[in-house]
Amino acid sequence: MASYDLVVIGTGPGGYVCAIRAAQLGMKVAVVEKWPTFGGTCLNVGCIPSKALLQASERYEEVTHMLPKMGIGVGKPKLDLATMMKFKTDGVDGNVKGVDFLFKKNKITPYVGTGRIVSAGKVEVKSGDGKTEILDAKNIVIATGSDVAKLKGVDIDEKRIVSSTGALVLDKVPEKMLVIGAGVIGLELGSVWRRLGSQVTVVEFLDRILPGMDGEIARSFQRILEKQGMTFRLGAKVTGADTSGKKLKASVEPAAGGKAETIEADVVLVAIGRVPYTEGLGLKEAGVALDQRGRVQTDGHFATNVKGIYAIGDVIAGPMLAHKAEDEGIAIAEILAGQAGHTNYDVIPGVVYTFPEVATVGKTEEELKQAGVAYNVGKFPFTANGRTKVNQTTDGFVKILADAKTDRVLGAHIIGAEAGEMIHEAAVLMEFGGSAEDLARTCHAHPTRSEAVKEAALAVAKRAIHM
Ligand code: FAD
Ligand code: NAI
Repeated sequence: MASYDLVVIGTGPGGYVCAIRAAQLGMKVAVVEKWPTFGGTCLNVGCIPSKALLQASERYEEVTHMLPKMGIGVGKPKLDLATMMKFKTDGVDGNVKGVDFLFKKNKITPYVGTGRIVSAGKVEVKSGDGKTEILDAKNIVIATGSDVAKLKGVDIDEKRIVSSTGALVLDKVPEKMLVIGAGVIGLELGSVWRRLGSQVTVVEFLDRILPGMDGEIARSFQRILEKQGMTFRLGAKVTGADTSGKKLKASVEPAAGGKAETIEADVVLVAIGRVPYTEGLGLKEAGVALDQRGRVQTDGHFATNVKGIYAIGDVIAGPMLAHKAEDEGIAIAEILAGQAGHTNYDVIPGVVYTFPEVATVGKTEEELKQAGVAYNVGKFPFTANGRTKVNQTTDGFVKILADAKTDRVLGAHIIGAEAGEMIHEAAVLMEFGGSAEDLARTCHAHPTRSEAVKEAALAVAKRAIHM
């Protein structure tokens, strides 16, 4: 029987990063993956392919809306969707091959097959041809990720009623797309298909988009998306979809119930969240406890109730984000090596990769109010930033929230071009417990969009210069 210090089940960003860090720390490591390629949801059907299509569709739209303003006349763009999809697939291939390479480099043994925990210390791997093998493991890390949440009455066939996975491989641009859920997936993939020519309507159960993000940011972002041509039906729910005709007919009702109406669509995207994936893992038999939401229960240091079995990433509590899973993967590897591994859940950035991007880290105004924390707000609009003015990408603003007593930055929220890159200066500052004044007194290169971050920090003390 092959024997390892650590067996990681799942090779998403949580699992593969955990395996690499553990190998760096001298452990003998194996990974078990049931998909034919490594990298999990993120690399195969999540972050990476969606960003490839966001990048390509943004360029496509730019040809009509932006290039003529710059004096670059290239005529009406012609969409070759098959080539755009190949661009996406090439990007995915490059990334999954990268994980292969890293496993080899770090002498990690990969097993392709479905992993099942037989008991603490024993993992069974069942390969596609039905053969099974038992691995002996001093420690086991569950990193099996998440799966699409289903909606009753709207059955996903991945052709006309799709999840994010089907929405990444459509072979033609739907005339009308109905998106269920105004969360990150709905807005990112809705944006992709709107840019390529679909009429996109988003039905959202709540009375706002992007729940959990700062309310002012969400309202402003909704207006921007509406200006781009996306339609929103807030406070509404889809209760069923009739697939019998050429067009799909979705029944839409007010969230609180009431008269239903029909919305026609060629494709319906179900994007109402994701659920932890624990199917076939043998957790019940191994005695591993789940919480009320079906997530593997951990003790704050990634340990389950069974000694020697740990869990990280989407399958446990917390935001379902690749970088959160990665950080947890590193932390548990370090803990297993006797170090003080730690994930700081107060400073996990979140980014929506639309145009403009939305980026956020730390507390929202709503959270601070609810916690009764006195705070000051500094805001700075991109209309007043030299670089965005000259680039004509002035939609959005930066908002910094700082403790009223100590001036410590508690949250930063940005809508704007490349907000997802800018957010990290706030994240680093917050990791060091920095103040708005620290940020405001840091010299920022001119002309950059990041000067708006400095100006928002200055605005906390009501001394922004360019406003
Ligand atoms: P996963 O990436 O889900 O990996 C789990 C792996 O475990 C899979 O490979 C699965 O095959 C394997 N597995 C499961 N059960 C078994 C078993 N029994 N045996 C063997 N293998 C098993 N997050 C971001 O931070 N940024 C983004 O831009 C972003 N975009 C996204 C876009 C989309 C469309 C989607 C769906 C998600 C996106 N996410 C994004 C979320 C991100 O993909 C997840 O948070 C991340 O992949 C979670 O990592 P993980 O390692 O926990 O699990
Ligand atoms: P989400 O949780 O972000 O949004 C789901 C939305 O659907 C919510 O607004 C919710 O109120 C709404 N909803 C739920 N039930 C509904 C119903 N019956 N009818 C109408 N609306 C309903 O989930 P989403 O977008 O599916 O994404 C899943 C996960 O993937 C997220 O947790 C996210 O973190 C991650 N992800 C991250 C990305 C990024 O970081 N850029 C990109 C894509 C996904």
